[in-house]
Amino acid sequence: DLPQMQKQDPGVSNLITQLYKINELATSFYADNLSASSASQAKSYLLKRGIKEETIKLFKLGFAPDKWDGLINYFRAKGVSLSLLEKAGLVLAKGSGGYYDRFRNRVIFPIFDIKSRSLGFGARLLPEGTGTDSGNAQAKYINSPETGIYIKGRNLYGLNLSKDYIRDADCAIVVEGYLDFLAPFQEGIKNIVASLGTAFTQEQARLLKRYTHNIVIVYDPDDAGQIATLRTLDVFIEEEMDVRVVSLPRGFDPDLFVRKEGIEVFKDKVKNAQGLFDYKLEALKSRFNIKEAQGKAKIASEMLPTINRLKNAILKSEYIKFLSSQLNVEEQYILQELKKIKGGKAYQDINQAAPKKPANINPTEKLLIKLMLDEAGTISRVKEELKPGDFQDEITSKIVSLMFDLAGQGKNIGASNLINYFSEEAISRLISESTLMPEVSLENKERIIDDCITRLKSDRLKVKKQHLQEEITTAQRLGNDAKLHLLIEEFNNLTKMR
Ligand code: CTP
Ligand code: MN
Repeated sequence: DLPQMQKQDPGVSNLITQLYKINELATSFYADNLSASSASQAKSYLLKRGIKEETIKLFKLGFAPDKWDGLINYFRAKGVSLSLLEKAGLVLAKGSGGYYDRFRNRVIFPIFDIKSRSLGFGARLLPEGTGTDSGNAQAKYINSPETGIYIKGRNLYGLNLSKDYIRDADCAIVVEGYLDFLAPFQEGIKNIVASLGTAFTQEQARLLKRYTHNIVIVYDPDDAGQIATLRTLDVFIEEEMDVRVVSLPRGFDPDLFVRKEGIEVFKDKVKNAQGLFDYKLEALKSRFNIKEAQGKAKIASEMLPTINRLKNAILKSEYIKFLSSQLNVEEQYILQELKKIKGGKAYQDINQAAPKKPANINPTEKLLIKLMLDEAGTISRVKEELKPGDFQDEITSKIVSLMFDLAGQGKNIGASNLINYFSEEAISRLISESTLMPEVSLENKERIIDDCITRLKSDRLKVKKQHLQEEITTAQRLGNDAKLHLLIEEFNNLTKMR
């Protein structure tokens, strides 16, 4: 749809075309770097992890040099402006003016769209001790921010090269990470995609549905947010797709499993994947006591939204029967509960408000909660700067909102008191986890609180940008020129802010 846009607004169309071009150039910059001698550590790291030379080429893996201006210099020589590089998410502005490379001393995984155009990058830290820049507080992966062409949750890693295999096999294997994708792929399991650590979105489900209705999720059983993650799989059910689940032994992810156990064992696991309904019920049974009234209610409350999403009436009635016999509760009561969620309103809201899985709760949000629990004085300070809505997890936001209220009323804000206010297990778990986080030294405390606040504000900005992105896409689709212009302007203004 690019040519059509050109007529509407050459400015926007140019920007988007330029972003694709820049990403293409950056992809080759990083890839060329990986073969340079200065990148030998990165190269041998990949090889040591079992990634083959041909895979590196095929997926254009790369390396970002251990410099502040490696990429900047490359683009400077090509006459590309820094502000354009910033819009592509490749450089960051310094407080003092000027820019620096976002990705440094990291292995680069370009993220392609279905047409094999690079939209953005994931960048992995080299293991400890292999680089001058590898402190211990760095995130294992950092990723491109949302840009004019990259919107998270909208594409799937590897689909550009796996879509034909998915169609032929009439089945898609879904894993989480880059390496969880690459390891099976290079061993011949090519009907596979990676979700890149995000919860599955409706858009990702629809994207896959173009090629198959059959999904096998290969799942990490250690995940503390297992039940919540399973909940996100309901999007596949809503799309009337068939979801099965493979759960790997503890401590394994698909990459490790394939390397340790071999591809044939992995294939077997996939072949014997369990239906989502059965898998979910089993997971719930291991967590709640199905013999007790509370446990039954809890299990039903997790299973019913899934059942409710089934569009086929016969399937639905079968699952209700099955649940009734499993819980040993008469069907009429199950139906009564199901009626309460008819329309699925409450459930959908939760789902949309918390697209991230609880296991992935923003560590800054968690830390700030801990600091507020430590010392009530911190609460008033945070309250001056942030609103509960600035905490992007539904769970953290609820906790903070209560803390603000209680502090306002001069009430006790201790963890044990807070927990009493919530029935959700995930919330009480988060509160107790927060109290167990390592202590922050007194001398650093003030600075850390400030850092947390600043960071959450900037996260908030990111979310705003993401919403704008979505509106921009819609405006483009509808050909709403005037609106598009305003939105782009607003987006650019946000980009300047920090
Ligand atoms: N991820 C991310 N940012 C993080 C952590 C994870 O984007 N800070 C995404 C990445 O796409 C990553 C996936 O979530 O591949 C799964 O994360 P994780 O299981 O932690 O990493 P692995 O893929 O297993 O990476 P590795 O094997 O290299 O340790
Ligand atoms: Mn891994």
